Amino acid sequence: MKMLEIDLGKHKYNILIEKGLVRNLGHEIKSIYNNKKIALVTDENVYSLYGQVVKESLQKYKYELRFIVVDPGESSKSLEVLENIYKHFIDFNLTRSDLIVAFGGGVVGDLAGFAASSYLRGVDYVQVPTTLLAQIDSSIGGKVAVNLEQGKNLIGSFYHPKRVFIDPQLLHTLPEKYIKDGLGEVIKYACIKDADFFQSLSSIRSKNELFNKIENIIYRCCNIKRKVVEKDEGDKGERMLLNFGHTLGHAIEKYYNYEYSHGEAVALGMYNITKKSEALGYTETGTSEKIINILNNFKIEYKLPNLKMDKIKDIILFDKKNISGKINLILLNKIGHGFIESVSIDSINKFLE
Ligand code: GLY
Repeated sequence: MKMLEIDLGKHKYNILIEKGLVRNLGHEIKSIYNNKKIALVTDENVYSLYGQVVKESLQKYKYELRFIVVDPGESSKSLEVLENIYKHFIDFNLTRSDLIVAFGGGVVGDLAGFAASSYLRGVDYVQVPTTLLAQIDSSIGGKVAVNLEQGKNLIGSFYHPKRVFIDPQLLHTLPEKYIKDGLGEVIKYACIKDADFFQSLSSIRSKNELFNKIENIIYRCCNIKRKVVEKDEGDKGERMLLNFGHTLGHAIEKYYNYEYSHGEAVALGMYNITKKSEALGYTETGTSEKIINILNNFKIEYKLPNLKMDKIKDIILFDKKNISGKINLILLNKIGHGFIESVSIDSINKFLE
């Protein structure tokens, strides 16, 4: 088992990473929680694959369980589904001394985490992320939220779990598209913070090799995120580095109505912004070529589809993060070294032409 401690002063919690961990979830939870009731929020896909395993593991420790199963997909991150979850909590007589488990991908983690942060002004919760993206990113760092019609994550808070339990074995049932989704973000961590990690990812030649190394890959990503969040929990400085590829990526996701997964769109964003920043002299020559090679390695697309850049620019300018008249663009000096470039709205054009 690999373990990391994330230390935010007021909040400290451990991230445990182990193949097969979910089969021992009851034992693991017993070491941090002694009351009786556990409400588990999950989605139908995860429930049908792993609901029974988790139920049996928790029942060994005599917990009283309530599974709240939502539809898979982004549409579940809504106020309506959130209200329904609160109703389940009330019906289950869940109190402040009980526990909530977020058992799923990023949607479930954000939704259940926000429910935990707001129900009775806060109930303890743990994250059991089931996708690569959730295991390396969204389950760590305390960002929880639901969407509004007007945009993603507009209602949310920072609310940290008591512990994060990561079982890389679960990824064996994850569809290929969602492996790529996570890999986009894995590559992002290497680009902004760790040239050695980039090098070792670049040497991976097959899915088998990837899965043999996955525990270590997850550990390295979580460790980078831990350090970044420890420096800047509130996302006002260093944490913004995690948005490398995201300015363009988010706009592409929106433009194509979320046909691209988040990680695939981030990959397009990372390469295309780096190609521009290299041409503009911000980035060491050859960096965008290295990004092409690593993306090719994992069969992740890097070429922008035929899109209207004007429309992309409008989407970028409309983003809630850009309301101050400046855009914090994340660029690379070179592989392993990300930096924040504050760009005025007028000069964003040169990165998009
Ligand atoms: N996913 C980016 C962050 O947690 O800040």
